[in-house]
Amino acid sequence: MQKVQDYIQSNKDRFLKELLELLSIPSVSADPAYKLDVERTAASVANSLTKAGADKVEICPTAGYPIVYGEKIIDANKPTVLVYGHYDVQPPDPLDLWESGPFEPVIKKTEVHPDGAIFARGSCDDKGQMFMHVKAFEAMMATDSLPCNVKFMIEGEEEVGSDNLGIFCQSNKEKLACDVVLISDTSIIANDSPSITTGLRGLSYVEVEVVGPNRDLHSGVYGGAVANPINVLSEMIASMQDENFHITIPGFYDDVEEVSKEERVEMNKAPFNLEHYKKDLGIAEVRGEAGFTTQERISIRPTLDVNGIWGGYTGEGAKTVLPSKAFAKISMRLVPNQNSHKITKLFEDYFNSIAPASVKVKVRPHHGGEPVVTPTNTPEYKAAHMAMEKTFGKSPIPKREGGSIPIVALFEDVLGVKSVLMGFGLDSDSIHSPNEHYGLFNYYKGIETIPYYYKYYAEIKE
Ligand code: BES
Ligand code: ZN
Repeated sequence: MQKVQDYIQSNKDRFLKELLELLSIPSVSADPAYKLDVERTAASVANSLTKAGADKVEICPTAGYPIVYGEKIIDANKPTVLVYGHYDVQPPDPLDLWESGPFEPVIKKTEVHPDGAIFARGSCDDKGQMFMHVKAFEAMMATDSLPCNVKFMIEGEEEVGSDNLGIFCQSNKEKLACDVVLISDTSIIANDSPSITTGLRGLSYVEVEVVGPNRDLHSGVYGGAVANPINVLSEMIASMQDENFHITIPGFYDDVEEVSKEERVEMNKAPFNLEHYKKDLGIAEVRGEAGFTTQERISIRPTLDVNGIWGGYTGEGAKTVLPSKAFAKISMRLVPNQNSHKITKLFEDYFNSIAPASVKVKVRPHHGGEPVVTPTNTPEYKAAHMAMEKTFGKSPIPKREGGSIPIVALFEDVLGVKSVLMGFGLDSDSIHSPNEHYGLFNYYKGIETIPYYYKYYAEIKE
């Protein structure tokens, strides 16, 4: 193990330089304008896997963006770790809120990252975290110390729902056969407080349209007599939560798994400082479902949030107009045992039912995903626990998180394997926001920890 760690130490600068190069390619999967860049990113990932020593490196085409595959099978009798990650990123907008270009990575110190952090879209989610695995693999290969088999599957459509990866898994079950999926695309509590993610929320995402009059109208001539679609949409959205921030869609909570009292007590023991939380976000008060703590609200409870809302006049100055149409994008985060298709249908039925006769409404479902919980009493989890304990010098805490990685539930269903969510980001790293960053401490800590995961996992399974 010393050899691997020495190799990592003596190649630190290059590992950083290579990540910065990867971050400078704008691999935005949601926007077709970036198509060539996304494909270029896939090629770059494939190239780095080959250079690191992977065999059978392939850029597997799909109906969307390609999946990069590579493997190193050292002994068919040894366990196989499938590393999953994504090379696509969220759109960088709003651009004017970035302090430096989203695809011109720079390193700056912050209060939370006194050793410096890499500022760029994808630095934490997920290019930086995915690349840690490539570099850890390189270090193990270069020092002849890979203790088990490894397969890499790095996709380019995670941020748009992983539909094609689902199909790829279905039709490549044998190729992807493994004992565990190892993923770094989540966070730890703090740099001095490691944690392992044991749950992710599911997602139901819809776009709604409210149509009123057949054209935009003068808001003086018609205002007061004709339903304004933006007003109506706002009322409809507001009515979907009651005064306790309970979602009012009938049946919404029917399948929600209530977490036991004991587990909730345990959950609330995890380090969390509400004052720091509010200060970091610049808010005077938190808000959420009555009867639950902030930690619970962002992990074990479902939500409904508007992600974007538009219509009417939003340009410079004032224009007096009663718009013909209003739109919104709405996400619902789901918890075990809710099902995204069922929730989407409940939403659709309810939204249609509460629409006043003065407007017409449409609901368009987008991608979704199912929630997951991962067990902690398995060799797979234990190896992660031991690896983090070794490199952080502290026992990691199991923690459910609020984000979604839709493909994880599918790995269970299709490949029949559990995932280990050993991420190294921080919630304050601004993923999906302007000025996303990833701590150098976290990047290197990840690269150092991953080889221990392989070592302990191979040992436990022996
Ligand atoms: N890495 C995130 C998910 C995440 C973030 C999990 C933080 C836990 C903590 C992932 O890349 C992501 O953003 N997923 C999307 C999924 C969606 C686009 C289908 C999400 O959660 O919004
Ligand atoms: Zn993301």
